[in-house]
Amino acid sequence: MFQYELHKKIKELCLTHLMDIAGADHAFYLRMIANANTLQDLYFSIYGNTGGNLSVFHASAKSSGESKSLQAFENILTLIIETYKQRKPAFRKRDTLKEQQGAWFASNQITGMSLYVDRFAGNLKSMPERLPYLQELGVNFLHLMPLFESPEGESDGGYAVSDFRKIDERFGTLNEFKILQEKMQAAGMYLMIDIVLNHTSHQHEWAKKAKAGDKKYQDFFYMYDNREIPDQLDATMPEIFPESSPGSFSFVPECNKWVMTVFHHYQWDLNYTNPDVFSAMLENIFFYANLGVDILRIDAPAFIWKQLGTTCQNLPKAHTLLQLIKHCVHIATPGMALLGEAIVAPKEIIKYFGTDAFVAKECDIAYNATQMALQWDALATGDTRVMLAAQHELLQKPLGTTWITYTRCHDDIGLGYDDSMIAAAGFNSYEHRKFLKEFYSGNYPNSPAAGALFSVNPKTQDARISGSLASLCGLEKALAGDLVSSDSGLKNDSELKNETPINAANNPAVQIAISKIVLMQAQSMLLGGIPMLFYGDEVGYTNDYSYLVDPGKSYDNRWMHRPVIRWEKNELRKVAGSVEQRIFSATQQLIQLRKSITAFSDQKNITWLTPHNIHVAGFIRHGEGKHYYCLFNFNNKAAYITWYLFKEHGFAPTEVHDCWTGKKQKVGPDHEYLVMEPYQFAVFELR
Ligand code: GLC
Repeated sequence: MFQYELHKKIKELCLTHLMDIAGADHAFYLRMIANANTLQDLYFSIYGNTGGNLSVFHASAKSSGESKSLQAFENILTLIIETYKQRKPAFRKRDTLKEQQGAWFASNQITGMSLYVDRFAGNLKSMPERLPYLQELGVNFLHLMPLFESPEGESDGGYAVSDFRKIDERFGTLNEFKILQEKMQAAGMYLMIDIVLNHTSHQHEWAKKAKAGDKKYQDFFYMYDNREIPDQLDATMPEIFPESSPGSFSFVPECNKWVMTVFHHYQWDLNYTNPDVFSAMLENIFFYANLGVDILRIDAPAFIWKQLGTTCQNLPKAHTLLQLIKHCVHIATPGMALLGEAIVAPKEIIKYFGTDAFVAKECDIAYNATQMALQWDALATGDTRVMLAAQHELLQKPLGTTWITYTRCHDDIGLGYDDSMIAAAGFNSYEHRKFLKEFYSGNYPNSPAAGALFSVNPKTQDARISGSLASLCGLEKALAGDLVSSDSGLKNDSELKNETPINAANNPAVQIAISKIVLMQAQSMLLGGIPMLFYGDEVGYTNDYSYLVDPGKSYDNRWMHRPVIRWEKNELRKVAGSVEQRIFSATQQLIQLRKSITAFSDQKNITWLTPHNIHVAGFIRHGEGKHYYCLFNFNNKAAYITWYLFKEHGFAPTEVHDCWTGKKQKVGPDHEYLVMEPYQFAVFELR
């Protein structure tokens, strides 16, 4: 419906802000008008009650006592206009280019890495010196882990922010951040940072004022005088960090109240029922957008709305809030895409891309956390059926959106896929998860993995898994000579402990670990979505146990897989045959392979293969009239697959060309076999 009053108001605001609505600012004005009704509906469905069709700027709405929310909405419109006005011409130009490309983030040309600036390069100032290393690898997109001020020791790796605008002194200054952004942009790189939307540090000025008794700021959080409501909420809210921060509330002695703290006791949940919280956080989002951020990672969006009697996760209003944010961003700073970090059950993850009228109008990108965990599942069991059973959910992802695909990140691995998927593969879900946890924490007899259980819930026995890619794939134990009779087939050999890197790489257990690392990376890179490497994995960093002696970290074993880069180790990538060189160059080649074939961009151009062998996962990527069969043997034994596999989708190839090894093979008779070595993968182009 044409909402005359609303459009009139927008025009008025634009003119007051000296916008050239028929000239230079016309595209912005069009976006604003085109999205105004939806924006208004979204805003008022959370913060107003004028109901459906009546324009909120209509005189009768004003007289019905809603002037406060009207004013708040007008302030949002003004904020959007001001944000656009302050946007640097270079960023506006980049916005236009990205808009012309459509879903630019679905390209096969983008490869990311997530890293802690201090642990990778020392500080922001030294970061530019490290860009050539990343370029050598093929990385052109960086997720810089949280950089804004966060109290040391109570920081949750930067996810407890005490000032959303001030770079923490540990990392440097805002100016150094801007210099890095400019250098990255000049080098054709993309940038991602976080907005920690769900909570602030208890040292944030809002929290400090709340502690001092300021009612306005107490309303920024969920604060209660007694345990009545907290007890009711605790009854249905799952615990996130049950070991280190049990329950979802903490007592605040300064004001004698209970405050909601879903994560750690020092992370106070923001109260988004309060429109002031929304507008203050939207201002922060826009502040980041105008720093030239290409993708904004919305931390923990599943938690941003709370309601009694629910788990307080994935609630419909959380989605409405995200849609509202998406529309504001789309109008003011359209080049900035949104990544929703929702690490939740597969059918819930999909909803973060938007549903119904909002399909592909909520988060542009989400983590394919299900696939990530299922790769670890397949690697431990050698069986790919659970992975296959999950795909019908994951394939629901709408066109125009994409995944972050990854094997490891700074967080733990949660086994959050559905029991029904495990059951579909014929396993008992409890026993299956128990096996995986024991396998990766190294407690299963002869397990090659060296990880640890994270956040064990003593009540439910739920647990997640910590550990670096290399350690979970067996490299740590293999290098230490600790593999007695694992799937490496090795006997314990204490001499291995003293091997040089080159000799070590020739040790069969080490070779198997490297094959597993490359297999895991290959599947996540070829699947579709932006591959996001985790720093250090490209040269096989194993777990770092030094966190145990740091009281600010020892309670959180995720630090074992957040290495401090030793550049002399990374230099070994240049030593032919070393472990570092083998992993680095395989990763580099994978990135190049993906970049060289358009079929690896994400256009919903994937077909999963029905299993011909339960140990081998496979999918076809289609593009430019070509079809690439990507096959991954997750087993420790050779796998046999009938050649018919290449024909059942209606193709009739005579030859397959493995784009990974460069080897060609004649397609044999239907009943004869293609043989895949243990942990081998292949990218067969049909010829
Ligand atoms: C996200 C982050 C995680 C953090 C949590 C709370 O899940 O990835 O590291 O602990 O949010 O902010």
